Amino acid sequence: MGFIALLFSLVTLPLWAGEPVPPGPFTDAECVACHWKWDPMVIETLRTGPHGAESGVVCSDCHGDRHQSAAQARQNPVCIDCHKGPASHSYATSKHGVISRLDRSSGDQPLQRGNYRAPGCAYCHLHDKDHGDTMVPKSDPMARQLICSGCHSPRYVSEQLAAGQRLVEVAELKMAEALALIQGAPEPGAEELKKLEAGTKDHLSNVRLGAGHQSPDYQWWHGQPALDGDLIRIRDRIATERRRKAMEQVPKQRSIK
Ligand code: HEC
Ligand code: HEC
Ligand code: HEC
Ligand code: HEC
Ligand code: HEC
Repeated sequence: MGFIALLFSLVTLPLWAGEPVPPGPFTDAECVACHWKWDPMVIETLRTGPHGAESGVVCSDCHGDRHQSAAQARQNPVCIDCHKGPASHSYATSKHGVISRLDRSSGDQPLQRGNYRAPGCAYCHLHDKDHGDTMVPKSDPMARQLICSGCHSPRYVSEQLAAGQRLVEVAELKMAEALALIQGAPEPGAEELKKLEAGTKDHLSNVRLGAGHQSPDYQWWHGQPALDGDLIRIRDRIATERRRKAMEQVPKQRSIK
């Protein structure tokens, strides 16, 4: 090998090349301390993302406590174990979820552009080793566009993302209307209204998940119509309360005469 080629290979090899991989098991503090040297970005993005210290999630939750290939951490059950409920159900009812289930990929490929037929949870949320989150609202919208375009045409993706955005905006308007109605109610703090308000928040979250996970069920069944139902129930509850209050006035007015 020529000197230049040798130099080049040394420069492009990962820092840890030739480093023996200790078998473990390790404590999570040990994972962090050692990998801080090799993969500072992994540690940094994990810390500042939704799986940072406050979440209580640690390396071994996804990777196990011994060295193994990252393939195991790429599998959906790792995420679903902790994210049961609407987050996983909305994915399961999407085309991505259905295809992924049939595909049963081994997860042996890195989570990069188009390596899989359909995206699993980590393909979108921990794309290309990003241990933060590539998908949560505060992240760069261009990241979504790029990730989806690994498998779909850029134009299709822009349309889908814009349609999702509009769905969420309509749902947010409904939520704002519900809050305004409750604020104007004779007894805004009434127990029943609090329950209705909580339901409305869940249904707004369903629309978000439906748009984010491309689940028609969550957009159109657990989402928008459920919000419409909430608005009807809130109006109904407030009207009943107003009528009851009006009735209370009736005998008093009579007794004055
Ligand atoms: C004493 C240092 C040390 C400790 C402790 C350590 N690792 Fe590693 N780890 C390494 C080195 C070195 C490599 C690089 C192996 C390679 O790819 O050449 C590695 C590789 C990995 C890989 C990539 C494997 C692959 O094939 O893609 C993962 C994932 C990983 N470690 C996770 C962990 C987790 C999780 C812990 C704690 C349970 C941990 N490590 C503890 C040094 C360490
Ligand atoms: C929420 C689950 C999750 C947590 C928590 C997590 N990882 Fe990972 N990790 C993954 C996934 C998924 C991949 C595969 C990423 C890919 O293929 O692009 C991965 C990949 C890696 C790799 C391989 C990177 C490479 O070069 O291929 C290393 C090293 C690693 N993780 C270390 C860690 C360490 C150290 C911690 C704790 C500080 C940690 N991970 C915490 C899910 C997680
Ligand atoms: C050990 C349990 C655990 C595992 C495993 C886990 N998570 Fe999490 N995750 C949490 C907790 C706890 C939070 C922070 C609290 C919350 O927002 O739900 C969180 C937050 C998130 C968020 C942000 C939620 C929000 O409301 O902002 C996303 C997205 C997410 N996880 C996706 C994943 C994906 C994808 C995987 C698999 C690669 C995974 N999680 C694996 C427990 C876990
Ligand atoms: C096609 C890419 C994609 C796949 C696959 C995917 N997600 Fe998501 N996920 C998103 C997007 C986009 C959002 C919406 C973020 C937003 O705008 O609120 C989201 C939202 C979430 C949230 C809620 C975050 C919040 O802010 O409330 C959780 C939790 C979550 N996903 C977990 C998962 C789990 C678990 C899986 C697998 C069962 C999965 N995701 C599969 C793209 C994906
Ligand atoms: C790893 C490849 C891959 C990635 C990444 C991916 N998709 Fe898909 N997607 C597919 C496949 C395969 C199908 C099912 C075939 C089809 O209907 O075109 C699909 C279906 C869909 C559908 C349903 C189409 C229908 O007919 O019902 C929508 C919407 C969609 N994807 C949007 C997105 C968005 C938005 C993203 C990014 C957040 C994304 N996809 C990321 C592979 C992918």
